[in-house]
Amino acid sequence: MILLLGATGYIGQAFKKELEARGWKHRAISRTEADYSRFTPLMELLRSVRPSFVVNAAGFTGKPNVDACEQQKTETLQGNTLFPQTLSHACAATNTPWGHVSSGCVYSGAKVRENGAARIERDLAQPALMALLARDRSKFEGFTESDAPNFSFRQPPCSFYSGSKALGEEAIAGVGQSFIWRLRIPFDELDNGRNYLSKIQRYAKVYNNVNSLSHRGDFVRACLDLWERRAPFGTYNVTNPGFVTTRQVVERLEKILRTGRAFEYWADDAEFYRVAAQTPRSNCILDTRKLLEAGVKMRPVEEALDEALKRWVPEGKARPAAA
Ligand SMILES: NC(=O)c1ccc[n+]([C@@H]2O[C@H](COP(=O)([O-])OP(=O)(O)OC[C@H]3O[C@@H](n4cnc5c(N)ncnc54)[C@H](OP(=O)(O)O)[C@@H]3O)[C@@H](O)[C@H]2O)c1
Repeated sequence: MILLLGATGYIGQAFKKELEARGWKHRAISRTEADYSRFTPLMELLRSVRPSFVVNAAGFTGKPNVDACEQQKTETLQGNTLFPQTLSHACAATNTPWGHVSSGCVYSGAKVRENGAARIERDLAQPALMALLARDRSKFEGFTESDAPNFSFRQPPCSFYSGSKALGEEAIAGVGQSFIWRLRIPFDELDNGRNYLSKIQRYAKVYNNVNSLSHRGDFVRACLDLWERRAPFGTYNVTNPGFVTTRQVVERLEKILRTGRAFEYWADDAEFYRVAAQTPRSNCILDTRKLLEAGVKMRPVEEALDEALKRWVPEGKARPAAA
């Protein structure tokens, strides 16, 4: 029996759907039934359900975006740092293996390899780096799981949300048996305020940067595959291999959805942060070789994006029967 926490959320719903599709026995719990965020009810839950594995898709993301976490610091710290720590100790005490949904937003930038040496560049939106990327993508490498987060309270600046996620990873590392699954900017074919492809279409202007992304269905499948294969516990970057600029996503969107909309871009970081955002945003490339070496395959990001756009279901419309 798999115990799923946070099943009502955007990512939790995808886990629930995948567990159902696999026919894996599971129990999805909401805090309204049992307040799993507190140690005693959580221990009672673990002792009564006796799960073979726990999926933690619960956390505090801030709505409509991470700026909200700057005003709700207690909730952010509680949901993303203290709760995972409590869960790690409860799981360790009951000898229960588990997986935790973390985030790739604990990094900013990428490694740039030139003249035989790699350096970390935190801000890929710099014009010189964007030009280099257009000329030679092979010079850009993602952060691996052994790289320390560089968009965290330990390496500021960061958003409060990213800081809380990085601290959450630290709090659970080495306690019991757990996977840390790093998700990054989820998207799929279902139009939804949480879907990156929907967000881009709803922004007044688009912020061009470079990112690795996670197809929501591919992400949950990869996480459950790691458990099914009994891959070594530890941290995994769970994104579709590769990276894209926002501009490339917009071009695919224009070509496939034919919205007819002329997308506008913020002139630069200064305009974006002055008008549209309050707290620094993470934009980064992640290396997925560890996941692939564990035998778990995800489609290249371009392929996953194109498939999502070709099967696009506008909000309020039912999914096509043949899909
Ligand atoms: N969505 C993204 O863009 C994104 C990107 C990277 C990583 N993540 C991570 O993925 C996880 C799930 O995110 P999501 O997008 O599915 O979030 P969500 O839609 O807000 O769902 C989170 C769920 O967590 C539960 N929860 C438990 N403790 C909570 C707390 N203190 N505050 C708020 N909710 C709490 C709630 O379920 P009940 O109250 O019903 O139990 C809620 O439905 C989070 O850890 C998030 O940091 C998300």
